[in-house]
Amino acid sequence: MCGIVGYIGYRKAVDILTSGLKNLEYRGYDSSGVALYNQNKIDVYKAQGKLQNLVNILDEKRAEVENSTLGIGHIRWATHGAPTTINAHPHTCNCGSLVIVHNGIIENFKELKVELEKKGCTFHSQTDTETVAHLIAQEYAKTKDLTEAVRLATKKIEGAYALCIMHKDEPETLVVTKRNAPLLVGIGEGEYFVASDVPAIIEYTKKAMYLNDNQIATLTRNSLKLIDENNTEITPKIESLPWEPVALSKMGFKHFMLKEIHEQPDVIRNVLNGKLHTIDEPINLEEVKLDKETLKNLNRVQIIACGTSLHAAMVGKYLIEDFCSIPVEVEASSEYIYRKAITDEKTLVVGVSQSGETADTITAIRQAKEKGSHILIITNRPDSTMAREADSLIPVNAGIEVSVAATKSYIAQLMSFYLLAIYMAEVKGCITKEISTSLKKELIILPQKIEQVLNEKEQIKKIAKEYSSFKNFIYIARGVNLATAFEGALKLKEISYINATGYAAGELKHGPIAMLDETMPVLSILMKGKVYEKILSNAEESKARNAKLIALTDSKDAKIDELFDHVIRIPEVNEILSPIISVIPLQLLAYYIAEYLGKDVDQPRNLAKSVTVE
Ligand code: G6P
Repeated sequence: MCGIVGYIGYRKAVDILTSGLKNLEYRGYDSSGVALYNQNKIDVYKAQGKLQNLVNILDEKRAEVENSTLGIGHIRWATHGAPTTINAHPHTCNCGSLVIVHNGIIENFKELKVELEKKGCTFHSQTDTETVAHLIAQEYAKTKDLTEAVRLATKKIEGAYALCIMHKDEPETLVVTKRNAPLLVGIGEGEYFVASDVPAIIEYTKKAMYLNDNQIATLTRNSLKLIDENNTEITPKIESLPWEPVALSKMGFKHFMLKEIHEQPDVIRNVLNGKLHTIDEPINLEEVKLDKETLKNLNRVQIIACGTSLHAAMVGKYLIEDFCSIPVEVEASSEYIYRKAITDEKTLVVGVSQSGETADTITAIRQAKEKGSHILIITNRPDSTMAREADSLIPVNAGIEVSVAATKSYIAQLMSFYLLAIYMAEVKGCITKEISTSLKKELIILPQKIEQVLNEKEQIKKIAKEYSSFKNFIYIARGVNLATAFEGALKLKEISYINATGYAAGELKHGPIAMLDETMPVLSILMKGKVYEKILSNAEESKARNAKLIALTDSKDAKIDELFDHVIRIPEVNEILSPIISVIPLQLLAYYIAEYLGKDVDQPRNLAKSVTVE
């Protein structure tokens, strides 16, 4: 949700800023901009649309921009104001001396704007950010000290922000600060880098300092000074980043999404590595820091998450309740934080997040922590805000996921829930050796089964082509695969913009069935087990209303071929483990429909991979 970068040093700032923004594109991509300090003045360059548009402008002006060694940059996901060039960052004060990039939302910007206008400030954009530029400029006029001006101005701001600021009259300085939005400073020799996230700077340095809320860092080429909001100096905590620079390559695939779908067998192997040694040994989950007595006495689990992670959470609920007989609540973080959530020290609160930076989930886990709950975080980013605040941390190790639509991180989250649920059941002594051994045996062979599904992708591609002209889809399932129906429908919506909705199959006749006719295909997830026959009946009911039917099944039953128009077969799998396999064809189906329709698969419109505003 917006990415910011900054550089002060001796290299060509334009190259560092644009390569940094490239690596932050997952945070937004509707406009971008840079400001460069150049021979006693600051030049601002902005472009609407993809980053490449800005890069093209900067290439044309290469001679003008390449000597600058100080600058800031931004890639935007619009919150206030349309994604136009005027609303793109950096924003400036009236005289253009001060420039600023911002990630977050200034909640009191309207009140501030009224006051600033009274003081003579002229606004050019519709953004909340521009108020901050004027506000700091007003303080600077009084203090003639950029750091102090930032300190005084941010006291008046309500909301979330990560800010990087420079001023024409302080040509050797970058000032950065944050509240409820991520920001780090990369440290080099005679240079500093500023970024919303590690990928923007890892190519240049592995040493960094994460800012805490309300801290302000003042960077010159050779110094870093850190203060808190009361102007007390703080010793910076320099960390070594646990990252290697990775060349983000599609490895011959047309899109990152397709590559990431194909990485899933290895992702499963990675998650199991070190945690599931042999089928006879208990699961080794030393990441869970709850002592065994407390774990045995838990009386409730709450899982909070957003988007795809919320669907992984739904499967997690099913597993923990099934294996451990502990009641589990699952809730969207954005709902959890605005109700009286009942939680206490006997409640385990699990936060699930690919990025570890989703604002709503961060707020939710902080609220639960205040009430004394143990916070367990399942995330793909062990260096994220959530990971830092966790009592227990399960890193899912899916590797960097570039495509905005989550695929391999979902599979890694699911696998983590299987391990967690079996681990908890083993500690509580409520799972038989026979059941746990047979589950472990099947978990180990899941990667091969997924490889079989991937080998059949041409069949899914054909079905995708045939269904690509439909405007609406319904996905139905029951039990442990209900979340799969939601996730499959979400994937289709996200990347093809087709209206797809997942329903509990039993709910179909309580309303949605009214929509069924030949224009509304129904995809049924039919895994052999407890709910198989029931879903088959629901599919029959849909057929009777002329809907086109697709089955996703591990059954070889000939009845299915008669009833359904198209059948996607996957290898046989224990019903409770089936969500790991059944989601794969749905990812592929969404991918091939979007690809056939010529959509921007990896960067779908209006979305961002990391949602750092509530
Ligand atoms: C955004 C992404 C989704 C993701 C959701 C939650 O909406 O586009 O793919 O599932 O945020 O993000 P998280 O990082 O917390 O899993």
